[in-house]
Amino acid sequence: MNVNWKDIKEKGFVDEKVGPDLDILREIDRMRKEKNAIILAHYYQQGEIQDIADFVGDSLALSQQAERTSADIILFAGVHFMAETAKILSPDKKVLIPDLNAGCSLADSCPPDEFKSFVEKYPGYTVISYVNTTAEIKALTDIICTSSNAMQIVQSLPEEEKIIFAPDRNLGNYIKSVTGRNMVIWQGACHVHEEFSLERILEIKEKETDAKIIAHPECEKPILIVADHIGSTSSLLNFTRKDNAKKYIVATESGIIHQMKKSNPEKTFIPAPPKDSTCACNDCNFMKMITIKKLYNCLKYELPEVKVDEDIRQKAVHSIKRMLEISEMLGI
Ligand code: 13P
Ligand code: SF4
Repeated sequence: MNVNWKDIKEKGFVDEKVGPDLDILREIDRMRKEKNAIILAHYYQQGEIQDIADFVGDSLALSQQAERTSADIILFAGVHFMAETAKILSPDKKVLIPDLNAGCSLADSCPPDEFKSFVEKYPGYTVISYVNTTAEIKALTDIICTSSNAMQIVQSLPEEEKIIFAPDRNLGNYIKSVTGRNMVIWQGACHVHEEFSLERILEIKEKETDAKIIAHPECEKPILIVADHIGSTSSLLNFTRKDNAKKYIVATESGIIHQMKKSNPEKTFIPAPPKDSTCACNDCNFMKMITIKKLYNCLKYELPEVKVDEDIRQKAVHSIKRMLEISEMLGI
């Protein structure tokens, strides 16, 4: 094995050349069988990565898969908090991520020290945190949620319960407005979902009058107000499968359109435009750090591996397990 270890530490991924004649997809397939590895991919991944994955899903479905898999190796084609959640749930398995730099601006918007002081200001509150957080935040949390189950998890608590919701302010405010619950909300956000332009979405809608607007709840309130459907990535995908419109303006990361087109080849999907017309800001730059070449090298060298401090893991696992138990009970 001629991997340069210093390079992995510095770069965050195995930067080995892949020969032009190598059938990379066939090799990935061969290695995953040989090593008893499972490839889990989020809907925001590049199309070819979604296509080679054993399982593609939203963050809830991916954590459910990570908990129940019998594979020896979990290769996570997604961002770091997702792979970290898999490691927290399956500490005895080797969890790999093709690029350690694949972070999340939403997770970064909630630093553990500041969050700890925030929680201390509200004694007696139940802490619900979105899965887009670090292991340290999960260790300070009572129940984890994702956009698929956040509403139901809040509603599963008694009416009078006082709730801290972190870190996404848009999702938090949306749930608070629908449920009317007593919630204090951490002011974090995702740089992709706060970038969509209401003005430019409405310009498209003016021309494409039959198009429906569908939005992830991490979008800002004005976008959610005009949306015909609000939901997690899997909820948006399911909506386009069942709904009878022919066109959709999609206000979430553009990777989801790959599955939407696969399921509905006859329908048109228009990515919602960002405020800055010169950037591709509706792409999550962290998600798109994962490439097929990095994935190949990751599986070949079984590096980089995701590690979680055991003390933090033991504290964090309870909040994730509570989410999985509540979700199972509610059939989500
Ligand atoms: P989902 O929970 O809908 O998969 O979303 C995850 C995410 O990172 C949204 O930006
Ligand atoms: Fe994080 Fe936003 Fe990327 Fe989702 S889209 S992984 S919330 S930075």
